[in-house]
Amino acid sequence: MCGIVGVLGRHEVAPILVEALKRLEYRGYDSAGIATVQDGVLDRKRAVGKLVNLSDALVHDPLAGKSGIGHTRWATHGGPTVTNAHPHQAGRVAVVHNGIIENYRELRARLDHRTFVTETDTETVAQLCEDYLDQGMTPRDAATETLKHLDGAYALAFLFEGEDDLIVAARKGSPLAIGHGEGEMFVGSDAIALGPMTNLITYLEEGDYAFVTRDGVEIRDAEGRLANRETRTIPAQSTQLDKGGHKHFMAKEIFEQPVVLSDCLGHYATADGVSIPGEVDFAQVDRVSLVACGTAFYAASVAKYWFEQLARLPCDVDIASEFRYREPPVSDKSVALFVSQSGETADTLAALRYVQEKAAKILAVVNVPESSIARESDLILPIQAGVEVGVASTKAFMNQLGVLANLAILAARQRGTIDAAREAELLTALRAMPGLINQALALEDQVVKHTAKLSEAHSVLFLGRGPMFPLAMEGALKLKEISYIHAEGYASGELKHGPIALIDKSVPVIVLAPKDALFDKTVSNMQEVMARDGRVWLVTDADGAAEAGDGTWATLILPKVDPILAPMLYAVPAQLIAYHTALHKGTDVDQPRNLAKSVTVE
Ligand code: G6P
Repeated sequence: MCGIVGVLGRHEVAPILVEALKRLEYRGYDSAGIATVQDGVLDRKRAVGKLVNLSDALVHDPLAGKSGIGHTRWATHGGPTVTNAHPHQAGRVAVVHNGIIENYRELRARLDHRTFVTETDTETVAQLCEDYLDQGMTPRDAATETLKHLDGAYALAFLFEGEDDLIVAARKGSPLAIGHGEGEMFVGSDAIALGPMTNLITYLEEGDYAFVTRDGVEIRDAEGRLANRETRTIPAQSTQLDKGGHKHFMAKEIFEQPVVLSDCLGHYATADGVSIPGEVDFAQVDRVSLVACGTAFYAASVAKYWFEQLARLPCDVDIASEFRYREPPVSDKSVALFVSQSGETADTLAALRYVQEKAAKILAVVNVPESSIARESDLILPIQAGVEVGVASTKAFMNQLGVLANLAILAARQRGTIDAAREAELLTALRAMPGLINQALALEDQVVKHTAKLSEAHSVLFLGRGPMFPLAMEGALKLKEISYIHAEGYASGELKHGPIALIDKSVPVIVLAPKDALFDKTVSNMQEVMARDGRVWLVTDADGAAEAGDGTWATLILPKVDPILAPMLYAVPAQLIAYHTALHKGTDVDQPRNLAKSVTVE
């Protein structure tokens, strides 16, 4: 999603802005730009595509000045063109924006005496502000007045002609961080963007706006009252962007999983079993509603099996964009659980707001404890995965599963649906998981042997049963996100109800199946595929491989694991398959086309 930076510096600001934008690249974008003020004059430079295009443009035609704002844009209103790229300028003001101005048509109509040059919603912000400047308002007043008329979600930064020492920043629905330096100040979409400049950060709260100068920041709340917001020192490791010797962030994040999962499990483990940072009594609960988008939705879908099988607790799982408009009845005895890596996904946040005042308790399983979803929940369950840069989520998925498994075990204990021996067995299996994941990672070479062939496919099916069904969908999502190969995840038993029509030797079928109680049924499904010349890549354990017999195109043998927790282990080969297939295709693994890391628009 779009990224914002702003710098009131001591040195030439253009290279600093571009460096900061590079640190926001992971969010996904398709154009970029910066604006500076030099000798009171506002100027800007923008380019379509990767940041290198902006850097090249700046080499040929540099922008001077020690004050500036910058932006990476993920197109929503209007295609990714130079004209639509931010910053948008109207006369004496330039604006960068993340989010959507919902009433932009109405504002455009009101401003029909002005000439609009872009197709964006953001330009209305600049035009409205310039209109107030025309009426004689000061830059601070013009920006403040502009904000009063905006509906929708935004993080905004304004830069003014003639004002070398002012950025006005505002937050409503999209996070914004103010960074404090020595005689210089910064604005950024997140602390990561500002990492090399400062780790002293003040997060604006909902509705806040701020006047940033080199001397410091004056923050006002939505009502215009002076507001005191905490300034904290962000640990250096939370803003580090380093591939750790890997070719891609995604590879680094896949290989980090044993360590981050171990940290996560440690966070929720005590000598007596599971402990969470707050009170929830699942014995008093009649239903769990899990809501999420993308990969987080598949983690939630695995957890449905856990809550139902272990805790005998009815459980719904919904895609957030469907849930919010479906207007489902919400029991006041239910727990609503929102799963989101970023904690900022617009649909998930809107779904959360829908259940506020309805559900008994709102829980957030997030990677960013300062995020909007975390702030608006009753209880935050951090996944402790560290910064995830690859757009295709891997380690966050793993740790979402880690937290959700702990929660399901806790629920089962509170409801008396598992005995102490089974609880101990599950906790032991969870503790062993990082070690098993290490063993799965060691199979990378075996995965690589087949991915060249897989990369020639136009379509791939993933099959799984029980908790492996959502993992099959996650495996398919990973593959399509980064290799652009069409892939679908199906419940193995559903194969014969439609997708089997696709099977021939050109459609590889990846079967994710530990040897569990339903394994023989999965073997029958594999036989159905192979009888139609289909190529099966079976991912199983040694017992499963022995039972499946010959005839597969490839077989990958993972260590044995408690079948109910198997999605955690089997996620690893699914990720490696996607990663290495994408490498063969030469796609942009960390920033796949059209995708954004955190989707803050509907
Ligand atoms: C985007 C990302 C996905 C992610 C989804 C949900 O689509 O590309 O990788 O799973 O959003 O994001 P969240 O931050 O809510 O987990």
